[in-house]
Amino acid sequence: MRLVLLGAPGAGKGTQGELLAREYHIPHIATGDLLRAAMAAGTPLGEEARRYVSRGELVPDEVVIGVVRERLAAPDAEHGFILDGFPRTEAQAKSLDAFLEESGRPLKLAVFLDVEPEVLMRRLSARRVCPKCGASYHLESRPPKTPEYCDACGSRLIQREDDREEVVARRLRVYQAQTEPLLDFYARRGLLVRVAGTGTPAEILARVKAAIEEGVK
Ligand code: AP5
Repeated sequence: MRLVLLGAPGAGKGTQGELLAREYHIPHIATGDLLRAAMAAGTPLGEEARRYVSRGELVPDEVVIGVVRERLAAPDAEHGFILDGFPRTEAQAKSLDAFLEESGRPLKLAVFLDVEPEVLMRRLSARRVCPKCGASYHLESRPPKTPEYCDACGSRLIQREDDREEVVARRLRVYQAQTEPLLDFYARRGLLVRVAGTGTPAEILARVKAAIEEGVK
């Protein structure tokens, strides 16, 4: 199972990626999480990434491609993976194809989570995350048990810097300009499936699993 999850900011890639990883026992590899971990650790990669992430812009291709190649070469990704937030540009998609072909394990499917813009804005403005363990919440659909505190580790939840309204608007524009064209890229290869991304996470998961079972032969 080698999957790419495509969708706008807030489409539910992280939520579904986590559920799918549990379901299929393969790693959920999210470039946003990898970059945020580097930012939190203050590494040179993190410092470079912060300049782009905080403005809602894409981190340069060569930087992200290096991070993903290294992660996909780890032993736990040998038997499959769910990529979330990568690729985001045609250069990234081509580089992923080349890398997977080289290692004899081509991509099986690209799942597009289709969600209308008003829903995306509502989801992102009410998202809260744990700065310590990375757990993600939503004030209405997935609230923490104790308001403002992480269920898993008890830390105080924060809003992601790039979930501020003006940065979200920028991320959505960047998505339309640079990432949406990938839908055609994967459709031309016969790898794209579209899944309605509204409803409860469990309903969406059931649709994604049905699409996977149909699409991955
Ligand atoms: P990244 O972290 O990948 O952000 P994103 O793609 O904008 O996606 P999000 O994390 O905002 O949303 P999601 O689709 O995962 O939705 P989620 O499940 O969390 O990237 C951040 C930044 O890093 C980029 O802007 C860029 O700067 C950089 N970057 C990353 N990858 C890069 C790359 N390849 N190249 C260059 N730069 C890169 O859900 C959102 C909220 O909705 C949550 O609160 C959740 O609980 C809630 N929710 C989810 N599903 C449902 C549902 N069904 N019903 C109700 N609420 C729901």
